[in-house]
Amino acid sequence: MTTALITGANRGLGYEYTRQLLARDWEVIACTRKPDADSLAALSEQYGKRLRIRALDVTDHVAVDGLSAEFADLPLDLVVNNAGSTGPKGAPECMEYSGLTNMDFAIWRDILEINVLGAFKVATAFHAQLAAVDAGILVNMSSDVGSCERNTQGNLYSYRTTKAGLNIMTKGMANEWQDVIAVAMAPGWCQTDLGGAGAEIPPAESVHAQLDTLARLTPEDSGRFIDRFGETVPW
Ligand SMILES: NC(=O)c1ccc[n+]([C@@H]2O[C@H](COP(=O)([O-])OP(=O)(O)OC[C@H]3O[C@@H](n4cnc5c(N)ncnc54)[C@H](OP(=O)(O)O)[C@@H]3O)[C@@H](O)[C@H]2O)c1
Repeated sequence: MTTALITGANRGLGYEYTRQLLARDWEVIACTRKPDADSLAALSEQYGKRLRIRALDVTDHVAVDGLSAEFADLPLDLVVNNAGSTGPKGAPECMEYSGLTNMDFAIWRDILEINVLGAFKVATAFHAQLAAVDAGILVNMSSDVGSCERNTQGNLYSYRTTKAGLNIMTKGMANEWQDVIAVAMAPGWCQTDLGGAGAEIPPAESVHAQLDTLARLTPEDSGRFIDRFGETVPW
């Protein structure tokens, strides 16, 4: 039995990870701010004990530590640092508060807490459980917009900086942790609340491709910034 822990599991890409891993016979610890979400209740009915739902706001570091203590003896094959935010609005409306002349600093601080500090906290809290298996995988859910080289437009300063921060964090963890495979993942522009109505890719399609890619990873891949197909994304 292989086991995964997913943050932000109630909707979007996190929900898809949960759903598709369960369908592939994994055990999943689905972490969410909304443990009563209908989406997860339906999966719980279908998959029973293989799905464990836990309340978790990734900005609550005491809660992250508490969850890690609860599962201290549970080896994890996969941790997906998926919880993420562009603030109260998805794309493209989030540009209304993230440009050079209209920056909302409170929102910037909020999403830094979630996308960077929260992800760092989850990764460090669950490192031991990942290290307890051979080739445990840490996926830090990044974005193409966190790529410096692909930034040809500007704007989205708050969200972009969080994903660029997540990227350098991933590289550092890969350098320091020889016992896990840490990657930064660009899932593509997906049709979720965050991605917005104009997005290109159904979340189920992105996660399907991501899972196929994760299955092919080796320790040599640790520290890479990859897209859902496993191709390198320029830093
Ligand atoms: N969609 C895209 O096009 C796209 C592209 C590149 C990267 N990404 C990344 O992919 C990840 C998933 O995004 P998505 O598109 O699936 O977005 P989404 O549908 O808006 O879902 C975001 C998820 O993150 C959770 N979340 C937000 N803040 C949290 C917190 N403090 N603690 C715990 N959970 C929290 C949300 O929970 P609530 O329901 O409680 O708010 C929700 O489950 C994010 O890291 C995002 O940056 C997405």
